[in-house]
Amino acid sequence: MLKNKHILISITGGISAYKILSLIRDFKKSGAEVKILATPNALNFVTKLTLQNLSQNNVYIEEFDIKDWKPEHISLSDWADIMLIAPASANTISKIAHGIADNLLTSVVCAFSKKIILAPAMNCNMWRNETIQNNLKILQSRGIEILEPETGFLACGYIGKGRLCAINKIFDAVKEALNYSDILKNKKVVVTAGGTIEDIDPVRYISNYSSGKMGLAIANSAYDMGAEVVLITTKDFECPYKVVKVKSALDMQKAVNEEFESANYIIMASAVADYRVKNYSIQKIKKGNEDTITLELVKNPDILAELCKNKTHQTIVGFCAESENLEHNALTKLERKGCDFLIANDISRKDIGFEVDENEVLILNKNREIKKLDKAPKKIIARKILECISTK
Ligand SMILES: Cc1cc2nc3c(=O)[nH]c(=O)nc-3n(C[C@H](O)[C@H](O)[C@H](O)COP(=O)(O)O)c2cc1C
Repeated sequence: MLKNKHILISITGGISAYKILSLIRDFKKSGAEVKILATPNALNFVTKLTLQNLSQNNVYIEEFDIKDWKPEHISLSDWADIMLIAPASANTISKIAHGIADNLLTSVVCAFSKKIILAPAMNCNMWRNETIQNNLKILQSRGIEILEPETGFLACGYIGKGRLCAINKIFDAVKEALNYSDILKNKKVVVTAGGTIEDIDPVRYISNYSSGKMGLAIANSAYDMGAEVVLITTKDFECPYKVVKVKSALDMQKAVNEEFESANYIIMASAVADYRVKNYSIQKIKKGNEDTITLELVKNPDILAELCKNKTHQTIVGFCAESENLEHNALTKLERKGCDFLIANDISRKDIGFEVDENEVLILNKNREIKKLDKAPKKIIARKILECISTK
């Protein structure tokens, strides 16, 4: 199932390094080509001979042990389709986060432009350490996938979070990443995310509860599928692809229009305010003696409908959030806007949609066909949406 795939398994000095031995066998059995890269400290936990035999390949350890004209850190990063770092020690995580390249493993990471999956394992106090957590966030913002450790009995005698995640989960994550890595290759995907902010005066605004998480999950998945991604958002997301920060509906429309021509897919997952304040007040509006005040609102442009009107080659995907009659309202909106697909969210439920990490949606297409995606993490929903729209 992984025939012809090149996997670079990178092992650091952690007690759970022994668990990687069975993973090497699993990858070999599934037809992958495996090379092992180990830090010198990893060899305190597993032997070079074992790694060599299981991978049926040389084991790469020393940066200056050069057999060819091309330095190993470059030839290994050229060779591999994916790099897995497991177990990833606190030390190596921190070095990678700050661009330190003082051994073969960290040098390969610096030279590696494809997918990296990292499975940390360490004592629970080390895992909770603020510096380590901040460094993990840096890695995530660069597109490195982190497989969170599990909670349980740790080799150091503690009970807590820090145990290497299950080997089958690591296997599945690598397999999935390899299978998805080029579905959207050479395609440009523009995604919008988050609720727009419509200023009233310098201190007040009108907005909505959209967290931008669904849009971010779609942008991340598109990136993993090999697309050139542009995320246009009202939120502060750090991502390994282009992010355009906007505020109001008008800002968002301008940013989307700038990307429109060269885009293959436009996915409008943001919650754009229908109205904005007619007369923005430059000064803060003072509390007066009246019990009520009136704000006059004007309609914002319908970004989605205008994109659909002007489209040439683009596939345009809209989102709708409905609190009742989901199917009926979604079908009406699909026709009114004229988009290729509409993703419908039921916002009457607290366990899915706004602000939470899970979602359950309907995907509607131009032929009025409806596909239901059952409740799942937004990351899975994002993948399925992209699969569906890219195989239309
Ligand atoms: C017995 C023992 C077990 C260790 N286990 C871990 C571990 O599970 N995770 C970790 O981050 N560090 C662990 N360490 C500390 C690392 O080996 C140490 O930080 C080392 O510098 C890591 O080097 P590397 O990142 O270059 O492989 C352990 C050390 C010892 C002596």
